[in-house]
Amino acid sequence: MTTDTSVGGPTESDPRLDGRAVRRIVFDADTIAHRVSELGAHITAAYPDGDLLVLGLLKGSFIFLSDLVRQIARPLQVDFLVASSYGDAMESSGVVRLLYDPETELEGKHILLVEDIVDSGRTLSRLIDLLGERRPRSLEICALLHKHIATELHHPTQFIGFDAPHEFLVGYGLDHAENFRHLPYVASLQ
Ligand code: IMP
Ligand code: MG
Repeated sequence: MTTDTSVGGPTESDPRLDGRAVRRIVFDADTIAHRVSELGAHITAAYPDGDLLVLGLLKGSFIFLSDLVRQIARPLQVDFLVASSYGDAMESSGVVRLLYDPETELEGKHILLVEDIVDSGRTLSRLIDLLGERRPRSLEICALLHKHIATELHHPTQFIGFDAPHEFLVGYGLDHAENFRHLPYVASLQ
């Protein structure tokens, strides 16, 4: 899969941006919708039986997850988790705290962990360890975007929407300082 960096399009006129410019649109709404529907079909086919729990990592996954679950044609449950890493000073320790722990029983279920974007993979790597202790039947990752520099993630990402350019991306759930999450497209920041 190649990364389409040619979508472009002027965004100055988008009132959501309040005059702030984004460099270019990397994945537009139609492209995302098409890919999410393909992912939904892949996920449907990958889980022929058993209980499926789609577990969204807040906040970044909230839009992707809500579109994705509507493209999965089988019974499932949805829950979320909120994780917080301690920041740069403690990065090497890999400490990740669960600020909201999913209340749904995980044991014996297929867990599909949904993330907006995999960058270093540090957060996901730690979460995989934590969730694995709850004895799920299976544990897989679905990410809308993947920068393929996830040096810290040894668990394969089973379902990937798009290869992402090595730029800072916003929109469709992704933020910069909590802004831009509501953009219906993914854009690269100036
Ligand atoms: P990781 O633990 O280094 O893989 O970081 C993953 C998290 O960092 C994502 O869930 C995002 O919240 C954030 N992140 C990484 N790259 C970007 C980006 O390009 N735009 C917005 N957020 C990003
Ligand atoms: Mg973020």
